[in-house]
Amino acid sequence: MISVENGVFKLDTPNTTYLFHIMETGHPVHLYYGPRLAETGDLAAYPTGTNLRMPTFVNYSDAAPRLYMTLPLLETSSWGKGDLRQGAFAGELGPSGEIVFDFTFSDWRIESADTTHTSHLPAARKDHAQTLVLTLSDKPTGVVMELRYTVYEDSDMMVRSCAVINNSREPLTIRSLASLQLDIPETDFEAITFNGGWARERTVTRAPLTVGTFGIASNAGSSSAEHNPLFLLSGRQGCYLFNLLWSGDHRETIEVTPYDTIRVLTGLNPEGFSRLLNPGERFDAPEALMAYTAGDENEASHISHDFISRYITPLAWKNRERPVLLNSWEGMGLDLSEENIIRQAASAKELGVELFVIDDGWFRPGLHAIGSLGDWEPVKNKFPDGMKRTVDAIHDMGMLAGIWVEPECISIDSDLYRAHPEYLVRSPGRDPSPGRDQYLLDYTRDEVVDLIYEKLEKLIAENGFDYVKWDMNRYFSDDHAPNVRGGEFRFRWMLGVYRLLDRFTRRFPDLLLEGCSSGGSRFDPGMLCYANQIWGSDNTDATDRVPIFSGTSCGYPQCCFGAHVSRIPNEITGRVYDYETAFNVNAFGAFGYELDVTKLNETERRMFSDQIAFYKENRALLQFGKFTRVEDGDEVIWTVENEDASKLIAFYLEKRAGVFRHRIHRLVVPSCRSDALYRVTARRQWITAPGMCERRGGPHLSESFERTVPGALLRRNGMALMPVFLGTEYKEDTAFLGDYGSRLFLIEKIA
Ligand code: GLA
Repeated sequence: MISVENGVFKLDTPNTTYLFHIMETGHPVHLYYGPRLAETGDLAAYPTGTNLRMPTFVNYSDAAPRLYMTLPLLETSSWGKGDLRQGAFAGELGPSGEIVFDFTFSDWRIESADTTHTSHLPAARKDHAQTLVLTLSDKPTGVVMELRYTVYEDSDMMVRSCAVINNSREPLTIRSLASLQLDIPETDFEAITFNGGWARERTVTRAPLTVGTFGIASNAGSSSAEHNPLFLLSGRQGCYLFNLLWSGDHRETIEVTPYDTIRVLTGLNPEGFSRLLNPGERFDAPEALMAYTAGDENEASHISHDFISRYITPLAWKNRERPVLLNSWEGMGLDLSEENIIRQAASAKELGVELFVIDDGWFRPGLHAIGSLGDWEPVKNKFPDGMKRTVDAIHDMGMLAGIWVEPECISIDSDLYRAHPEYLVRSPGRDPSPGRDQYLLDYTRDEVVDLIYEKLEKLIAENGFDYVKWDMNRYFSDDHAPNVRGGEFRFRWMLGVYRLLDRFTRRFPDLLLEGCSSGGSRFDPGMLCYANQIWGSDNTDATDRVPIFSGTSCGYPQCCFGAHVSRIPNEITGRVYDYETAFNVNAFGAFGYELDVTKLNETERRMFSDQIAFYKENRALLQFGKFTRVEDGDEVIWTVENEDASKLIAFYLEKRAGVFRHRIHRLVVPSCRSDALYRVTARRQWITAPGMCERRGGPHLSESFERTVPGALLRRNGMALMPVFLGTEYKEDTAFLGDYGSRLFLIEKIA
């Protein structure tokens, strides 16, 4: 996997090769990242940017008069020796704040799979892997930089990270340190980023690259709904994918130089960050993920899905089917009591629900109360004898029980605040800014980590909860903690939360943990090191979930994406669509319901039972199958397939009512095998649109069909779907597709 020959470092994954070598000056120069190479050939053949002749540039040195540091493809970079691009590292050394650094080769070693560095950062597992550690140093000062490259036997994802060790005699302030730098000699790409806000997280933005710097960043203190750390570069020569194991501020930049090269940097956001390293101290930047495929964006997502499932998310729930849940929030709000919960749970059980989640409200005294964060005690007027009786009742029904907490925040109206006002984050001399009427707890303090751990431990252990929804409902302000330098506050705060998560998940390894942050505002691989799934969005309108899920699925496996059917008309958007589309969309995720199930009518109950039965029968494939986006225009097709593509499920959705688009509706499934024959069966679903019900005397099941279809046809032209209702005939073989009408198809190989 990792070899070093004639000064060339060769890092091979199953399908890719990454090459660099050390120039005579000691700088590691990037040679190649692309499809796997058997032989490296002649060094001189690689376009590294070291053979241009330019005026205006500074020569690196007398000894290297033709080396201009801004041209080579470099493995890392810093300020002050002629590189005009944004640097991976910036720092100030000593009392005079020296800013020139020049890191050159010192040493290298290969670490075996299980020696991971211990910096309390979330980390990808390193089994089936080797890590190349390249040590560079700034010779005049002794400051050391360590570049780490982890290469896996069975994945095309590489893990990269970077550390700085202050081996000088002066204090060093790190101003910025990217986890990953990638310089490549091509520029013809589209940058694909995942942006939005509350209720519209991770929607796809495509930007053709041009000379200049394209970048995204989070200043929220959280990986944020505004800009996810995931991004892709997609071009004719293939696709690169990047991500970051960090749940706080981050910055990603893609700099297209006037010399036909690109520099990619990803890591902590330098704004609001600095780190003081006294002599002898070390700082590790978070791990970054990097993959290349000669294929398209779907291929890049497949690498990422597979890697996250095998090397990031906790193992206890790896390939373990996620239970169908009912969450109390949208249906019950804060109106929780033992009696209400048991009534909902009993009704949900009849439908086939397997996990009842008690959301916000169990610890808040009133129906409109917003206080009590930090106490984590069930409120007496709702649960006079605590939560145990409710949990036991749920368990007795044969269901699992879950609970909502928000451990990172504190309310002014809480016993915790009354006892420890100093735990609330505030900047001296200023009133702290509230967010959702609550404040940050000071996670830079070990005693806060310990205290909240004890409260959570007691809550889960004493009551026997099987699932926790771990929420975080505000961004950062008022960065300050006593004895912590301002620029270190956010980093140290996040480490405190990771420490709590680490301890908590070690104590309850079997517990299913779902992350959440006002919906999906903190959806990143750092969180996924502790949580197997994350609530996708507070926007549960299934039609809005289509772009949110399409975007999220570019980097994150579908089983990580919490997805619920909620009440129609939707509570946030007021939109009316149908419960079958709500199911079809959300079936591609960690599925559940979030509405008052006691208010469903008879048809809805039958419909939900059918949905749950279908989901249970197919959930291994829906949750863990290889996921592919086929089209994402007015027509959306998603598919999941098993390992040998002998069984697939396809989702087909038309954004505008069928009548608006006179076209041949067809199902295109490129993942089918060309040489196979398939049986395609449409899932029969309930048609409840009033006009259609009048024509058929009430709610009825949709068209039924089963077809034998050659794989090659499914892959290329697609299989013709039923004629769509256009206002006149509505017979057994007519499909009704209203706005956002959709179907699911089961595709099984028969020969
Ligand atoms: C956040 C979450 C919701 C719900 C509420 C409860 O907004 O995203 O799912 O848990 O908090 O207050």
